[in-house]
Amino acid sequence: MLSLVVLISGGGSNLRALLDASQDAEFPARVVAVGADRDADGFAHAEEYGIPTFSVALSSFADRDAWGEELLAQVRSWNADLIVLSGFMKLLPPDFVDALAPNVINTHPAYLPEFPGAHGVRDALAAGVAQTGASVIVVDNGVDSGPIISQERVAIEPGDTESSLHERIKPVERRLLIQAILDIANSRIDLKDL
Ligand code: GAR
Repeated sequence: MLSLVVLISGGGSNLRALLDASQDAEFPARVVAVGADRDADGFAHAEEYGIPTFSVALSSFADRDAWGEELLAQVRSWNADLIVLSGFMKLLPPDFVDALAPNVINTHPAYLPEFPGAHGVRDALAAGVAQTGASVIVVDNGVDSGPIISQERVAIEPGDTESSLHERIKPVERRLLIQAILDIANSRIDLKDL
């Protein structure tokens, strides 16, 4: 059984999908804790499932490295096999990534390496492309530049807004994330080899 710490910043709809999936006794992974860089709305999903939460706000620390150190200590205290960034919107300091690599994965609402960063959906719309996508990647020290675990295209429809497009991408992200976790748990994917 793969144990997961999930880090979020917002509503946590992808976290919710993961929690729902892990209700199935056959699902080979369990969320042991949910962390955030704020008092995230998505904590409600964790609380509903009786899963502990922790929050480490960047603004409470002198600098990003000190914040990363505390976040790392909190994450490590759960002894998880895999850390899942699911809508976690802060860049992690190198010491955090180096300590846990390659066991940190991230979901992103674009077909990487296209449209990395905090506004993947908005940037794809602004670029006027016909299709964008969703990706699940291994986190490295760049911005959404790590090895790609899986990805899928999503068409941009006439009249799409950032929100309508994002709502069509998210179900694809969820499916990719859950499949990636299944594949990691069942040793079909070895993050070290990507
Ligand atoms: C998701 O689309 C996730 O890929 C994105 O934030 C959303 C979070 O939604 N993350 C990024 O853009 C990271 N660069 P959620 O809180 O409802 O799961």
